[in-house]
Amino acid sequence: MSAPRQTLQLQVNGAQAEVRAGLHDSLLTVLRDQLQLTAAKRGCNQGVCGACTVVRDGWPVRACLSLAHGCAHADIETLEGLNQQAAMQALQKAFAAESAFQCGFCTPGMLVSAHALLKHTPQPDADQVRAAMSGNLCRCTGYAPIVAAVLQAAAQLRAQELAP
Ligand code: FES
Ligand code: FES
Repeated sequence: MSAPRQTLQLQVNGAQAEVRAGLHDSLLTVLRDQLQLTAAKRGCNQGVCGACTVVRDGWPVRACLSLAHGCAHADIETLEGLNQQAAMQALQKAFAAESAFQCGFCTPGMLVSAHALLKHTPQPDADQVRAAMSGNLCRCTGYAPIVAAVLQAAAQLRAQELAP
């Protein structure tokens, strides 16, 4: 017998969303399976890989470890919403320019973490980028192109005086 579900109001990408969630359902499950927001990936599903990263109240979190009911009063942003922002577009261009992805499975989580970093630290050095991205695992790139891409996007945004 499956666990009972309750109706829940979430704030996702600036809009109210009504979902049905059991007490143990994760934010990732609700985003992907009910709201069709599939940019956040179900990788390890146990808090290790960072592929499920979304932003909660301005800070990156693992959606697989976040209970949907615990997010009822939070402001949730996913890559789908962040895509509208200039900083995310700069990051995506820089990832392409630096060949900072191969299979691409980790990339949505990487982009969300990088976007949050640039929002709070517009002028990061390489160590700060590495630290901010240390919770996002990549099996393909070896990380150096990812760090280069984030630094490139940060420089570009500063040059254009665009705030993340
Ligand atoms: S799927 Fe959430 S950390 Fe891996
Ligand atoms: S590009 Fe394949 S896991 Fe990162």
